[in-house]
Amino acid sequence: MADAEAGSGKRHGIVIRDEWPGYSLELFSYPTHYCGDLECVYIPHGVIMDRTERLARNIMDDLGDHDIVVLCVLKGGYQFCADLVDRIKALSRNSNRTIPMRVHFIRLKSYLNDQSTEDLQIVGAEDLSFLNGKNVLIVEAIVGTGKTMKRLLEHVEAFRPKMIKVAGLLVKRVPHSSASLPDYVGFEIPNRFVVGYALDYNEYFRDLDHICVISESGKTKYKI
Ligand code: HPA
Ligand code: MG
Repeated sequence: MADAEAGSGKRHGIVIRDEWPGYSLELFSYPTHYCGDLECVYIPHGVIMDRTERLARNIMDDLGDHDIVVLCVLKGGYQFCADLVDRIKALSRNSNRTIPMRVHFIRLKSYLNDQSTEDLQIVGAEDLSFLNGKNVLIVEAIVGTGKTMKRLLEHVEAFRPKMIKVAGLLVKRVPHSSASLPDYVGFEIPNRFVVGYALDYNEYFRDLDHICVISESGKTKYKI
């Protein structure tokens, strides 16, 4: 089963190889204020949207007719969560199956510059007792080392939900990863720092539609 799924790519999502150079920036439009700050377009916005549409289908197939609480992990997850919920709503409008959704937001912070810090802060998650007995869908933009996701899962499990599923847009191929894969994965990517589609570098680049690789000069320019 695991092998068949790996073969079809469903488990890991769309796998982006280490050799993938990305697309030249000249082939796409992006905000001029980021001119010189980016290396390449790694995943174009349209591809993100197409993949998200399919993830919504998979979620609908598995969870249709269940009530769910969507737990959006801010800030990086806001765009993916909004687009994913949007696609699930569209499917609910156009079929007999439907997923009543509530959306809740929590905030995690653990990165400074392009490095993960030990200090993980969870904000807005002090009292999640309303998750008791509920089906929870955690929506995350990116899973790196897996440490953050593990901590968050432990935190959420303590409130005894009936079921927890995780949707991650990006999963990084990190050496010695302790990560268990999300149930729904958009893309598996190399261990590179990416920005855009709400993913930031010190709060910059969230206002970029494509997922891009930041350039060295971009890192220097926005370094804290
Ligand atoms: N980009 C932005 N934020 C992140 C990343 C990344 O590659 N990995 C973990 N948080
Ligand atoms: Mg960040």
